[in-house]
Amino acid sequence: MENLINNRVKNIEISGIRKFSNMVANVEGMISFTIGQPDFPTPEHVKQAGIKAIENDFTSYTHNAGTIELRKAASDFMAHKYNLHYHPETEVIVTLGASEAIDIAFRTILTEGTEVLLPGPVYPGYEPVIRMMGAVPVHVDIRSHQFRFTLEAMKPFITEKTRCIVLPYPSNPTGVSLTEAELKEIADFVKGKDIFILADEIYSELTFGHEHTSIAGFLKEQTIVINGLSKSHSMTGWRIGFLFAQKSIAKHILKVHQYNVSCANSIAQKAAYEALTAGINDAEAMRKEYRARRDYVDQRLHAMGLDAVMPDGAFYFFVKIPEQISLNSFDFALALANQAKVAVIPGSAFSRFGEGYFRLSFACSMANLQEGLDRIEKYFISQ
Ligand SMILES: Cc1ncc(COP(=O)(O)O)c(C=O)c1O
Repeated sequence: MENLINNRVKNIEISGIRKFSNMVANVEGMISFTIGQPDFPTPEHVKQAGIKAIENDFTSYTHNAGTIELRKAASDFMAHKYNLHYHPETEVIVTLGASEAIDIAFRTILTEGTEVLLPGPVYPGYEPVIRMMGAVPVHVDIRSHQFRFTLEAMKPFITEKTRCIVLPYPSNPTGVSLTEAELKEIADFVKGKDIFILADEIYSELTFGHEHTSIAGFLKEQTIVINGLSKSHSMTGWRIGFLFAQKSIAKHILKVHQYNVSCANSIAQKAAYEALTAGINDAEAMRKEYRARRDYVDQRLHAMGLDAVMPDGAFYFFVKIPEQISLNSFDFALALANQAKVAVIPGSAFSRFGEGYFRLSFACSMANLQEGLDRIEKYFISQ
């Protein structure tokens, strides 16, 4: 029967991140810098709200777009934090993590043969969905642009077929964010063209030394904003994301969401409401801790003579594999895991434009960072 499987699905590969993490997951004594999720527990008061929801039998379907209290809280959060204004009744959809928001957005706006611009390297969650729609992912090599997906970098790739530009920032895997001026330049250029912006802002609460700016502030009509609680509130397993778009777009995306999942988990929605109200600033403490770790890792990488851009958000360093190591990124990561017992993600997991690099996540304890970086240092000295 396998020959009957839709070719577009057959051709999708398992994410390189998962593939590599699974390979090294059970090696004893391994220090893992592969993790793409916060190492903090979900805040206690948020967990309690989930428990209370079960005890109070809040266990039925909710409105397809999510409970109105949660949509109001999400709308208030966007207004309070980023000065963005979305009507809770018509412009906010509660999704199953940012992942589902990405999926339903693409499935609503893409048609066969349309092109989607993405930075390269990039989080691998977009390309398979684009391909399933018969649309074409067009990666823009941003390595020589200090990993900044600016108008200058993307402009040569914008064609009549371009239907969407994916702007993920702060970025996974580089931690690079775009400045207000860079965003405004993109918005001014795209304004009035038949192009959507998919702004994946899932790391917006984890920025260092600056506040996050959303491109939707300049171009609400054409922008679909993706956000969620996975990273800001350490809630990856609760599966709560948000999609914000103006009414005329959101009403169509909602249909895809409805026939896909009906609604997000009711219990998780109660916990999410607590996170966005009483816990609106919960990310603050985590952000401080990530910043201290970032500074530590930066200093260690520098001391080893390794080249990486300084992340101004999220919790990753994207590090260049030194020239004396004549291995591709996958073989390098494998060698590091086997010889030094440190796991990192090969850059090739983030498109072919990640080749020659590795991603180091600092979503782990300071003690592990210290020990793991000592091991990496020893490994390089021995080469
Ligand atoms: C850039 C980016 N977007 C989306 C996601 C998916 O988030 P969620 O777990 O909320 O689906 C991730 C997860 O690592 C990510 O890094």
